[in-house]
Parts: sequence; structure tokens; C-alpha cells
Amino acid sequence: MSEVKKKRKRRRYRIVWPWQQPKNQSSETTPKKKRRLKLRKEIIYGIIGVIALLLLIFLPRAFENNKLRSLGYTKDEIQAIREQQLARTLIKNEYYSPFLAKSITDGTLNQDYLELYTVISEDGSLDHTDFLLYNRLLDKGYENDQILDLFKNLYFHELTPLLVFDYQYNELAYIEDCQKNREKNSKTHFELSGTYFKPYGNPLPVDDPNNVNMLVNKTYYLSQNYKPSNLTDLSTYYSAAENQLSSNAAQALTEWGDAGGNVGVTFYATSAYRNYKDQETVYQNYVNAWGQEEADSLSARAGFSEHQTGLTVDIAATNEDDIEEFQDTKAYRWTSTNSHSYGWILRYPEGKEQITGYQFEAWHYRYLGKELATAVYNSQLTYDEFYGLYLKPWDDETHIPSEAVLEGSDYKKFIKTKAEENIENKEGKDN
Ligand code: DAL
Ligand code: ZN
Repeated sequence: MSEVKKKRKRRRYRIVWPWQQPKNQSSETTPKKKRRLKLRKEIIYGIIGVIALLLLIFLPRAFENNKLRSLGYTKDEIQAIREQQLARTLIKNEYYSPFLAKSITDGTLNQDYLELYTVISEDGSLDHTDFLLYNRLLDKGYENDQILDLFKNLYFHELTPLLVFDYQYNELAYIEDCQKNREKNSKTHFELSGTYFKPYGNPLPVDDPNNVNMLVNKTYYLSQNYKPSNLTDLSTYYSAAENQLSSNAAQALTEWGDAGGNVGVTFYATSAYRNYKDQETVYQNYVNAWGQEEADSLSARAGFSEHQTGLTVDIAATNEDDIEEFQDTKAYRWTSTNSHSYGWILRYPEGKEQITGYQFEAWHYRYLGKELATAVYNSQLTYDEFYGLYLKPWDDETHIPSEAVLEGSDYKKFIKTKAEENIENKEGKDN
């Protein structure tokens, strides 16, 4: 019995690993046996190689997955991260937020703004206009960290005034003020406890005085000699005597007036183009009557008035003499909601006094052309903010966002409007 066992034992095969091979093969090893041994060796090395390769591929991947999981991403999100080749960037920067994860999974992520996604709340959103605003704030001088603070804590309507205000070194103080006043504020009303703009503190010449979209406010001024070359007398059917406007605006006033007439609303221009000297007089009269501080909230200093553009009118209601305030007239109710269709915007709306720098002027309208005026009206922004977001030339071209953002935010459309609605001020141009 034990003899049989011994025999069986001897017959059993045993794997001989290469390192177990005797150093000196005995002289009796046949060539066939040698070949077999060589083949076996190659197979074993092959297996080891494949295992090493698989480890090389899968170990870092497993490590990355683990890291992504510890950042907060789920299995499905990790798969989407892999498809978009974002794993390394997210791990390296430790980027995670539920909103970022959601945007990666639903395929809406714009990789140029990865970090911005990390500060947006789960029920928040980011679109092309937000990206444009991000770039505008960069162009205004804000650091990335400051913009992240701002986006993290504020709504769009709390951010756009920053395009008009002076640069805020302490953005946290601004945020705190916005939060303190949040209950009162909305897209149509904005007020803060502090002041963030020094009127006339940083005067700059108007960007393009030949353009119908020019912005004139307490920063941008027209030179003393600026006079539109295409001033046209206004018919007394639409205006008080001796008023003039740039020809496009004069034509638009007649269409606007006729449209009002068609629905039983009649109004006329009380004041239109005012040259530098006239404005100086108007402003001085206010100062004499009310003192400088109050005057500055009611009237522009010479050079800083839109009336000098030839694109602005003050209007009054006809046949509503019993109503003292224009804002209480039928004419105001109609003009404040319909004027954009004829190319005009209410320039100093109620509730936006701290942004425009002027008290509510129900009567003061600015011509921009139908397309631009409608866009401004729909945006619910003041023209100061709208201009800062869409129309202002960039201070630093490296801050211009991608084509996709320019296209998606309608920036391209408004820039086109700018070119098409050119006005001719060449004769009057001197700045
Ligand atoms: N009343 C406006 C602000 C002006 O004087 O131009
Ligand atoms: Zn006015």
C-alpha cells in the first residue's frame, strides 16, 4: 500500500518556477525538454507582464475613483467625470459641490468656469450671462477669489450694480450690505445702506460719441464742443417750440407719439437737445434753488447730461393738466411700459436711484433704437448696468470670454445693434 502511494506521488506534476530551475541543467536534459522549459518560462513572464500592466492601468484609476468618492462624487457622477476627462483637475483642485456634480452629469458644465460651479448652491444656476458677468467683473479689476465670494453670496441683480459702482476692495462689506437689505431688493428695486460710488469721481470721455448706444452718466462725459451733426427741428405737433433731436430720434419721437395717439394717450417733448452751455444753466438753477447735493440728484453737470447727446427727451402729458405729477398720468402708464417698442427707454426708473445716481424721472426718455431699447427693457437693468455688461469696450482683451459665451449671452446681438444703429456726429465730433 505504501509502495503504491509513493509511486503516485512521484507521478504528480509539479510547476517548476523559473527561479526554481536548477542552475546547471544536467547533461541528460534533452532538447525537447529544453524547449518545453523555455516555453513555460515565456508563458509565465507573459502572465506577470499582463498582471503588471493591468495593475498599472487600474491602480491609479482605482486610486482616483477613491479620491473622487471621498470628495463627494457618486458612482454615476464619476463615470460622467471620466467621460469628460475631468478626474485629474477635480482631484488636483479638490473641486466639489453638489451643483458642480449635477452640471457634470447633465452635461451643462462649462469647463472654463469650473471653480465658479463650486460656490453655487445646489438649487442655483449658471448660464452664459453669468459667465459674461464673471468676465466683466474681472475686467473691472476684481480678483478671482473676490468674484467667487460675490457669486457665492449674491443674486444677479445684486451683482450687476458693481459694474457701475467703483471697484470695491472690501467685497465682503458690499455682500453684507446686500444681505442686510435683501428683503427690500429685487430686479426692480435696489437700495443699500452704504454708498459705493463717488459721483464724478473718475470722469472718462464717452466711449464712442458717434454711436447711438453711447453711455452718458456721472462717469462718462461729452466734451464741451460736442454737438450732434444731424440735429433736426421737432414739429410742434410732438414738441414744445424750438426743440431739436438727432434725426433718428426725431423720427422715432413721431412714431412714438403717433402710437400713443392711437390709443388715446397724448404727450409732447418739453425739452430735448441741450448744448453744454444750456445744461450749465439748468444745473446752476437747480444748485441755486436746492443746494448742490440735491441738485446733483436732479440735474446733470454740464458735459454729463444725456440731453447733450440729442437722443433724449423730457415729456409731459397733453390734456391731463389736472394731474400734478407726470408719474400719475395715463401718459406715464402707457409710456413706461410701451416706449421700448418705439426705441425709447425710461432712463432713471423708480427704485434704481442708487445705480443711476438720479431721483426717479418719470418724464426722461432716452432713444436707443427699437432692438436695443427692447433688450434693455426686458433685462430690467438700468442702462448703466446693461452697458457695463454688454456694450462697454473691454479694458483688457484677455478678459473677453469664449465665443460660446458671447453668443449665448446675446452679447453678439447687441454688439451688432451697436454697429447698425450708427449715428452721424462727425461734424460735432471733437473728442
Ligand atoms: N435731469 C437729467 C439727469 C439731466 O439733467 O440730464
Ligand atoms: Zn431729462
